[in-house]
Amino acid sequence: MSELQELHQLHHQAEAELADARNAGQLETWRIKWLGRKGLVPAAVKKIGGLPREERAAYGQAVNQLKQAVQAAFEARQQALKEKAVAAELQVQGFDPTLPGRRPHIGRLHPSSATMREISRIFAHMGFEIYTGRDVETDEYNFQLVNFPKGHPARDMQDTFHTTVPDVILRTHTTPGQIRAMRDYAPEPIRLILPGKCYRYEQISARSEMMFHQIEGLAVGKNITFADLKGTLQAFVDQLFGQGRQLRFRASHFPFTEPSAEVDVDCILCGGKGCRVCKYTGWLEILGCGMVHPNVLRNGGYDPDIYSGYAFGMGPERIAMLLHGVDDIRYFFSNDVRFLEQF
Ligand code: DAH
Repeated sequence: MSELQELHQLHHQAEAELADARNAGQLETWRIKWLGRKGLVPAAVKKIGGLPREERAAYGQAVNQLKQAVQAAFEARQQALKEKAVAAELQVQGFDPTLPGRRPHIGRLHPSSATMREISRIFAHMGFEIYTGRDVETDEYNFQLVNFPKGHPARDMQDTFHTTVPDVILRTHTTPGQIRAMRDYAPEPIRLILPGKCYRYEQISARSEMMFHQIEGLAVGKNITFADLKGTLQAFVDQLFGQGRQLRFRASHFPFTEPSAEVDVDCILCGGKGCRVCKYTGWLEILGCGMVHPNVLRNGGYDPDIYSGYAFGMGPERIAMLLHGVDDIRYFFSNDVRFLEQF
């Protein structure tokens, strides 16, 4: 038999044996015998070297074809066996591979967190440091040091959660953080915001929750004026709600600021024409602010004859409600994913 006939025979035998391989184990045995390092096909390739020069070209071509054909046959068989195995498995388990997959539930930031981060980001760009106060406060910090003496009527607006320890309470606003920050830094100039949770013993309604967030702002230094407060708030509002917003300062009262103001922005929905969201006034109230009261500066360690400052406080839930058209604050903390997923 010539060398080429032998190759032909070899090819025939390889394919015949391959057809007999009925599972992965048999296929592997076949592979080792035929294509393995010491297998029959590599052996046939090695034979080239021992052939007379004039036969090498023809033999080389033939053996290469054989090698490729056997390799391709092996891969086809391997694929077919794999599919057969999967099909068998599917039949047993009753699994339908044509069904769509189950989407994993991917979490995201809570709308309160997202709003607080956005507000913090804007103030951070203006050089405000983020300062963390305490959720559990004393009556002294929460009220007395920010100018609500015992019995002050303004305390009635902040119904308080008390603890079993006398005078230890849950903070009703982030304002006590002002004192802690000032006492940390006085007499250095400071510019900071204090984001965090507040607690009030209130009837829960569409407008009030017993736990909510606030972001307090505070700047103290020499020659700080109401004009600085206005400019800072204008820059903030332009970034949060879009350029060119109108601000309106209404005289108000807070014990810890003098003078005090409440700030409205022209309605982001109707632009001031009047709509349901602004209750047909054209304005949306967004925060309270004022110049830090001399008593508060003094309690923080700054001499009010030398230093002045401004402060402001806002509710991120309220702002998120305006930004996203949410009409009930209770959605924020009722943990309904149908609400939370929309942000
Ligand atoms: N502490 C106030 C409240 O909870 C909010 C507030 C108003 C904070 C005016 C301030 C401010 O710093 O200047 O109702």
